[in-house]
Amino acid sequence: MTHQVRAVVARGKGAPVSLETIIVPDPGPGEALVKIEACGVCHTDLHYREGGINDDFPFLLGHEAAGVVESVGEGVTDVAPGDFVILNWRAVCGQCRACLRGQSWYCFNTHNAKQKMTLLDGTELSPALGIGAFAEKTLVAAGQCTKVDPNASAAAAGLLGCGVMAGIGAAINTGNVGRGDSVAVIGCGGVGAAAIAGSNLAGAAKVIAVDIDDRKLETAKKLGATHTVNSKDADAVEAIRELTGGFGADVVIEAVGRPETYKQAFYARDLAGTVVLVGVPTPEMKLELPLLDVFGRGGALKSSWYGDCLPSRDFPMLIDLYLQGRLDLDAFVTETIALDEVEKAFERMHHGDVLRSVVVL
Ligand SMILES: NC(=O)c1ccc[n+]([C@@H]2O[C@H](COP(=O)([O-])OP(=O)(O)OC[C@H]3O[C@@H](n4cnc5c(N)ncnc54)[C@H](O)[C@@H]3O)[C@@H](O)[C@H]2O)c1
Ligand SMILES: [Zn+2]
Ligand SMILES: [Zn+2]
Repeated sequence: MTHQVRAVVARGKGAPVSLETIIVPDPGPGEALVKIEACGVCHTDLHYREGGINDDFPFLLGHEAAGVVESVGEGVTDVAPGDFVILNWRAVCGQCRACLRGQSWYCFNTHNAKQKMTLLDGTELSPALGIGAFAEKTLVAAGQCTKVDPNASAAAAGLLGCGVMAGIGAAINTGNVGRGDSVAVIGCGGVGAAAIAGSNLAGAAKVIAVDIDDRKLETAKKLGATHTVNSKDADAVEAIRELTGGFGADVVIEAVGRPETYKQAFYARDLAGTVVLVGVPTPEMKLELPLLDVFGRGGALKSSWYGDCLPSRDFPMLIDLYLQGRLDLDAFVTETIALDEVEKAFERMHHGDVLRSVVVL
């Protein structure tokens, strides 16, 4: 059997997205069909639409989602129809060299659904990050579904599926932020704001938010930033050093993805401190640094993919913290929108008006 559902499709480079009817197959072995309840609009969806990821148009966009499992294929035991799940793009394989070393958050061979979703004329769709959740229903590998407490709001829970997890994990998992640490976060959009919330959860003593937009600095404060710096008006490196006894922060998280902000992060950390790059650069960007400074300043320069998260370990725990009132996921939801408003949401994102627009179905 197949299902005809409404979905948001990007048909060509830079062209506005369209609402279309697509065909979703019933789940085969190892797959699950999920009825989507909410899906956040992430910067990466816009990258896909602009052809910045690859040229495999048409794309089925959306990948920050929560919903309810409708049916599962043969051999699926971890989730069952009726389960409330967050979708993830890291269904670990258990067999690649990273998994075998016990570092499955780096898994190099993650699973997606094997069957293809298509347009009505049979054209195969490329689901964003192997998910494709700006749709009434989507087909994923069962391992892409992580069961969490159904008392959580779908709009908030879905955000853990990408940007918010990337930010929290950049602080907690990659940056290893610990009790008493000083942290600076450069770029306080959805990802950076989540890094601020994560630093707080980890017990950081000082959390410095840096952005060029005062609106983002306001939300950063709400999520626990102890200090804010508008780097349009002030030198970010000087300001962070001043706020940390002249030394720099123990951990600096770069959540913009540009060489100039990476350089700020590099020089705004204390000796032997850690830089975490979670912002995603574009292919033409280059970085030039004196090698002597790389050596002389010591410490660690790390990148963070999806916050080095393990969905099965991290999603249920973070949802519990949310339900206990200790992690304000609702603060990330600037607006809820309908499926046919994704294009408008891209515009608002481009203008910096939102942390997250979330499609609610
Ligand atoms: N590593 C991962 O797994 C992962 C996952 C999701 C998103 N990302 C990436 O993280 C980055 C941030 O995503 P987002 O959703 O928060 O985007 P966003 O557009 O919401 O936020 C970017 C923020 O950076 C600020 N900014 C821009 N230029 C700046 C500058 N020169 N100095 C200081 N601040 C500046 C903007 O004002 C904005 O608040 C993107 O590059 C995105 O692709 C990475
Ligand atoms: Zn693996
Ligand atoms: Zn994303």
